[in-house]
Amino acid sequence: MQQFGVIGLSVMGKNLALNIKSHGFSVAAFSIDKPEVDAMQKYADDSLLPVYTWEDLVKNLEKPRKILVMIQAGKPVDLTLDKLSTLLEPGDIVIDGGNSNYHDTNRRVKAMKEKGIDFIGMGVSGGETGALNGPALMPGGDEAAYKRVQPIVEAIAAKTDDGRPCVSYIGPEGSGHYVKMVHNGIEYAIMQVLAEVYDLMRTVGHMDNKAMSQTFADWYHDKVDAYLVEISAKVLAQKDDLTDDDVIDHILNVASYKGTGNWMLEDGIVLGAPISMIAEAVIGRFMSKQTLRLGQAPVSDEKVPDNFVSNLQDALNLAQAVAYAQGFGQLHLAAEAYDWDLRYSAIAQNWEAGCIIRSGMLKQIEKAFDNAKAPVKTLFQTPEFAKQLKDELPALRKMVALGAQAGVPVPTLSAALTYLDSIFNPRLPQNLIQGQRDYFGAHTYLRNDREGVYHTEWYEEK
Ligand code: 6PG
Repeated sequence: MQQFGVIGLSVMGKNLALNIKSHGFSVAAFSIDKPEVDAMQKYADDSLLPVYTWEDLVKNLEKPRKILVMIQAGKPVDLTLDKLSTLLEPGDIVIDGGNSNYHDTNRRVKAMKEKGIDFIGMGVSGGETGALNGPALMPGGDEAAYKRVQPIVEAIAAKTDDGRPCVSYIGPEGSGHYVKMVHNGIEYAIMQVLAEVYDLMRTVGHMDNKAMSQTFADWYHDKVDAYLVEISAKVLAQKDDLTDDDVIDHILNVASYKGTGNWMLEDGIVLGAPISMIAEAVIGRFMSKQTLRLGQAPVSDEKVPDNFVSNLQDALNLAQAVAYAQGFGQLHLAAEAYDWDLRYSAIAQNWEAGCIIRSGMLKQIEKAFDNAKAPVKTLFQTPEFAKQLKDELPALRKMVALGAQAGVPVPTLSAALTYLDSIFNPRLPQNLIQGQRDYFGAHTYLRNDREGVYHTEWYEEK
């Protein structure tokens, strides 16, 4: 009898099955796609059993059965659950490790519970290598069910520098997939910031690919030790297979997406979350599809400003902090709205290794949440990040101004700056908006000097 089942054996499912096996757990591996099961045969032994039918999968699992589903999100998950529901017994546990929409997970947790089956929606991050060597995992659903799979998921998860697993129980319902969605929104924002920094380096700094790659590599070993910075250095250094050029110069500049970042924006709108960087990153991808490639690319003949590279590093570092701050800000609002008791420092720990947005800064975030005496609405209210704001804001301001002057669009850098200029500003001008609303629609307003709701009989010019 095997201890764990995996359904879906394309890259992620296969690598997770091998990861589970390498940690001493026995696995039954199944896919409706026969060649995927055939491809597992070369790993078959006592601890890995490839199976070709649903019935063989279920028959070969210890009870209560624990099954990880790693297939395309959406309809295929519902079809799989329909099938499993006919074969499983009360007490069995099904984990969906795909990038499912949290609304679907909310629904599935409920529907499966009615059949006595515990359903866990688990965000998985880290791509192909992460799946094999240690992903970051974000499981949500019934806590007692989580406890039963905890030893396996803790064994296969990535580990932080001090050896703690990058997995912890997130909360009920679809909260695990919600946290993964927020992870992906942050991922979109940081990727877009890096693209803007690249654009400033090549257009204003006149740097070639080699110099830019080296700069990203230097930053990775300096202040911004983020995985996405590390791989940006590698992408810029890669030679093309088809020409003598660098591959980056032949990659079409139109960004695709499967949409998890867009989902974060959708829910951010529902919650009223000021996630401007994520919004700009999503729109940046839309823009890249819409751009009429007829005009002239910006050419800057401005003198490269003093301390350009170090200011750019500081601007990037601060913008990365804003992306995390906006992500955690949305989690804070979601926790209140959906009545989830989210543990922010544990979520930061989950992201410290294995996942796409991993960076040294997450350790600092974990500490900031641990040390906080009051609820953290924005990371920048904590002493750790208040200091970073003070130190790096001038550089961010300079880089945004430089982009504006040179005609290089820097939407997420600007959004980060605007967020920081707004978040502690007691004199934002929305009093005028309230006045306008009351003027044209008697929408009323609150006052800053007394309680109550007010309406003014506005003087209309004849
Ligand atoms: C991860 C990634 C992963 C996937 C992205 C890509 O954490 O491992 O986020 O889940 O690569 O969802 O998303 P887009 O196709 O939308 O860019």
